[in-house]
Amino acid sequence: MSFTITTPLYYVNDKPHLGSTYTTIACDAIARFYRLEGEKVVFITGVDEHGLKIQRTAESKGIKPNEHCDKISNIYKELWNKWDITFDSFVRTTSQSHEDIVYQFFKRVQNSGDIKVGRQTGWYCVGCEEFKDVNNEDKDKYCPIHLKQLEWRDEENLFFCLSNYQKQIEKLVNSEDFIQPQSRKNEIIKFVSSGLKDFSISRVNLKWGLPVPHYPGHTFYVWFDALLGYITGAYTNSDDYNLDNINSMLWPANVHIIGKDILRFHAVYWPAMLMSANIKIPLKVFGHGFLKREGQKMGKSLGNVLDPEDLLNKYGKDSVRWFLLKDIDFGQDGDFQKQRFIDIVNNDLCNTIGNLVNRTISMSRKWFDCKVPELINYNNKNHLKECSNKVISEYKKLMYNYNFKEASETILYLATEANIFLNEQAPWTKIKNIKTKEEVAEDIYNVLETCRIIGYLLNPITPELSLRILNQLSINHNILNWKSSLEWGLLNPGNDLPEPIPVMNRIEN
Ligand code: MSP
Repeated sequence: MSFTITTPLYYVNDKPHLGSTYTTIACDAIARFYRLEGEKVVFITGVDEHGLKIQRTAESKGIKPNEHCDKISNIYKELWNKWDITFDSFVRTTSQSHEDIVYQFFKRVQNSGDIKVGRQTGWYCVGCEEFKDVNNEDKDKYCPIHLKQLEWRDEENLFFCLSNYQKQIEKLVNSEDFIQPQSRKNEIIKFVSSGLKDFSISRVNLKWGLPVPHYPGHTFYVWFDALLGYITGAYTNSDDYNLDNINSMLWPANVHIIGKDILRFHAVYWPAMLMSANIKIPLKVFGHGFLKREGQKMGKSLGNVLDPEDLLNKYGKDSVRWFLLKDIDFGQDGDFQKQRFIDIVNNDLCNTIGNLVNRTISMSRKWFDCKVPELINYNNKNHLKECSNKVISEYKKLMYNYNFKEASETILYLATEANIFLNEQAPWTKIKNIKTKEEVAEDIYNVLETCRIIGYLLNPITPELSLRILNQLSINHNILNWKSSLEWGLLNPGNDLPEPIPVMNRIEN
């Protein structure tokens, strides 16, 4: 089985911020999870490099657009590498391969009779690269997202006949699983039921875009161009970007993960374009919420944008990933509050999980010759085994639904149960009596085994912490597929246990 997942292709008007990092980390967690489940995964990310917004940014810096794009695209790619994002494909919309795909795609859409010439008038937001519905009564026309003045456009463009797909799109957006979460589905259903209008797919007088064949002076509208980047990205093992071969690639995408701001493009325009070109449509579009900072919208104009590189250097990957995935309900808006971030990381990762691992290893080393205890008459039916099995199946269900928050909570629950178990059994008292040493061996084994399961389950969410825990338990092999690792009882009695070093350091305020 295979699984194709995409992040949005981020605009290169500026370097990445925590918002784009959030989407990318979420996709990375999903990609890692599916790989562990034994699927062949194609994880596509990349950058969106054409359009007026990028052209103006480059102009304002006094450099050529392509130089600007090279610089920012590299920053994106390097940043994802620093975060250990396990992407398989990094798309640049200025690449030759992408250009080849755009031209082939356009030809297909033309052959379907879905391209016409028309007049485009309206108010345009350069930040969104989108025409906006405005109230004509309003004197000032502003974009509510970018808080910037809209620009008037009146030009002859090429149009894509979206209206030809009214029925199919209506059926699609109403279908059970296509748009998630459910809360976002209704706004799209409403938009579609009000009647789909053809949309312009070319611009005149815009140099920084791909020229439209046979229409001098026209370049492709940046969204028409960028959405096709997902297809370019699917050609992972091929130098031949022939659209006729798309069906032998891992296409369609199983899911496009995007922010709620660009849901309409993905859930309405994009599937219609694909239908027109006779290419399979994605199975799901998931629109997550927006990140705020200390309750305020994050934005350059407010000067409160969080730099992901700073966070990485200060706190490390695991802390930030845990906070973003565990504290924010994926689909709803979230808030990055520094104090809450520190408290959550210290409580969950250092106290509840880290301490459990470290203190249990210390006890095992002290009482069982620096090893995992040997077992005599092991009772294979025990409370922690039951909890683990329950958590594993619950966790998987939640991860398949991109519910990172509750999936992380199930791991915490398991760690809490193990902590309670230790406190109740009080092996530090039992060990004083030689008659109960066997019991202590079993208790310690069960907690160590629970730590092993926790180590595995953390892998998609906090990959480095996961490996540190498993290393402490002397499990040093590469974790490629966990199907045969999540069974209870695989920790070998008698395994050496190295001296524990804290698997997670506290963040000092
Ligand atoms: N280039 C288009 C996407 C084309 S996809 C074929 C674009 N780019 S963008 O750089 O503006 O990125 C938008 C995406 O970045 C959002 O959909 C979301 O995934 C992420 N985020 C940007 N700001 C964000 C927050 N403040 N919070 C969470 N995610 C946000 O639109």
